[in-house]
Amino acid sequence: MCGIVGYIGDKEAVPILLKGLKKLEYRGYDSAGIAVQGKTGLVVRKAKGLIKNLEEKINAEFAGPGTHEFKDAEGIRGFAGIGHTRWATHGEPSDVNSHPQTDVSGKIAVVHNGIIENHGKLKEWLTTRGVTFQSETDTEAVANLISYHYKGDLLQAVLETVGRLEGSWGLGIVCTNEPDRIIAVRKESPLVVGIGKGENLIASDVPALLEYTREVYYLEDREIAVLHKDHVDFYNDEGQAIQKEKTHIEWDAASAEKGGYEHFMLKEIHEQPKALTDTLRPRLSGGADTKGAASGGSADAKGAALSAAGARKINLDEIGFDASWAQANRVVITACGTAWHAGVIGKYAFEHFARIPVDVDVASEFRYRDPILNPKDIFIIISQSGETADTLAAMRMAKKGGARIIAITNVVGSTLAREADLVMYTWAGPEIAVASTKAFTTQLMCINLIALQFGVLRGVISPAQLKEYIGALEALPAQAEKILKGKENIQRFASQQFNKGKVFFMGRLFDYAASLESALKLKEISYTHSEAFAAGELKHGPIALVDTSTLVVALCTQSALFDKMESSITQVKARGAAVAAITYEDSDRFDRLADEVFRIPRTDDGLTPILSVIPAQLFAYYCAVQRGLDPDKPRNLAKSVTVE
Ligand code: G6P
Repeated sequence: MCGIVGYIGDKEAVPILLKGLKKLEYRGYDSAGIAVQGKTGLVVRKAKGLIKNLEEKINAEFAGPGTHEFKDAEGIRGFAGIGHTRWATHGEPSDVNSHPQTDVSGKIAVVHNGIIENHGKLKEWLTTRGVTFQSETDTEAVANLISYHYKGDLLQAVLETVGRLEGSWGLGIVCTNEPDRIIAVRKESPLVVGIGKGENLIASDVPALLEYTREVYYLEDREIAVLHKDHVDFYNDEGQAIQKEKTHIEWDAASAEKGGYEHFMLKEIHEQPKALTDTLRPRLSGGADTKGAASGGSADAKGAALSAAGARKINLDEIGFDASWAQANRVVITACGTAWHAGVIGKYAFEHFARIPVDVDVASEFRYRDPILNPKDIFIIISQSGETADTLAAMRMAKKGGARIIAITNVVGSTLAREADLVMYTWAGPEIAVASTKAFTTQLMCINLIALQFGVLRGVISPAQLKEYIGALEALPAQAEKILKGKENIQRFASQQFNKGKVFFMGRLFDYAASLESALKLKEISYTHSEAFAAGELKHGPIALVDTSTLVVALCTQSALFDKMESSITQVKARGAAVAAITYEDSDRFDRLADEVFRIPRTDDGLTPILSVIPAQLFAYYCAVQRGLDPDKPRNLAKSVTVE
């Protein structure tokens, strides 16, 4: 979720790269950098923090403050270059971890969006060939691999390199020996090529290009673009030239930032399939996709890929998780807001998959109670930002009590990440809308992976069950995509229901936990009075509030409890409530009872919240829009609550 820009043409590259990076600032980032083809080689400058820091660094070195005219600074004059805003994944935000990353000779520079999953193996392999790495990034492996394969033709070296990569990438590449071209290549991470007059550009996102052109080519997976100042050539992953169709961009600057979506929240809801894949894939090993190796990879790469083949496993080595963690007596989960809801679902998941006692606590309650702590406890602290004051206080208290801490967070280098014993990142990319969506579902992905790994290590899950669960996890991104395709149905329903006086979400087990998050989404952004309750509690209070002004959303995915849900729905219907059911697509059980049924694909009953929350997110979003509200910036709420 970082930003890429690249320029080649008749103009000074530095101001254009900096301006382009600023147009991508809205995406969120923690550091920035550029590499320019200077007179005497590549000039690389990087800085942690805002683009302003990078700009000041460059100005201090090459020009007067506040000016971009580098007339007297031959050193940084150049007419081709690449730039990057980084949202840290591998390695904390720092100057050295910022992009561009260069090879050891400093002749090849690379900017990269995405995650190279086999970077560990590649780095090991390159180390045995004399490479010393400076940064913690996965990208440095790419720069050095290109360098390894470089025999005088950058395109050929890039082809050989990407044949050995696993994961996702959008790459911009320059090489001192070939100052008249920039190479761009992608897999699962967007890149767009802008066609100007006497100049051409690349960017990860359209806003960076709009000032220069509206004529663009979208790169498809594994396609390569070679940019010269007066033309661009496209190739497939076998190096054969291909023809592509140009697109004219109609969007204005504001909608371009949102990728054409009306709001960041809607964009982020739609990013969930990819975020889920990015969060899951690096944590699985065995049964590897050998395609990369087969298509032109070297003998070394083929060997590496084949040795990874075998039964599919959850692999949390990357986060330092070993068998000792699974010997805990108890797991305690603490968090706030949406992250706490992920924790409630986590409790159910741990019980379901690992048969271990779990307490889950709102961080602000935990920190002021007198909790009983034990060094054999394991704490899982969940926080999108990693900076929530109550959550951090709870973590510090648990640490003081001798417990070991696993953090689940979306922000590399955040306070939570720095202070926890282990960190499992949600690879959701920056979340801009205040109401959390993709961070939530990726938190669920992480907690399920940890719970399943506990189950394996505690001997609760058999190899056959694990295979099934992994299959179910791997199916989730495509299943989420399928739900998103049906969004018009939810939009229509929201246009009928958005003025309801109160909306209740009810369910049992995992559906109850998912109801909590569903109700929160609706109240956060549409200001509708919405509550969640365990369906079994209906008779203990909530039913007193049910009347003809009520909408009840019944989450019905716990197969063994369908009868119970049927009875709860009957009771609220009898009091005049409208009912929408969220259930499996292969079940017609609730069609007769509910006024509206939203369907989700079949999965393990313990994984349903990752899917069932999506219709609820969309419903909340469309209700807010119908009410004329801005879903991205709800009143009185902040994205990150860093004070009490
Ligand atoms: C705020 C945000 C919520 C978030 C909560 C916890 O209330 O608006 O979206 O769930 O803080 O934030 P964290 O960063 O710790 O997940």
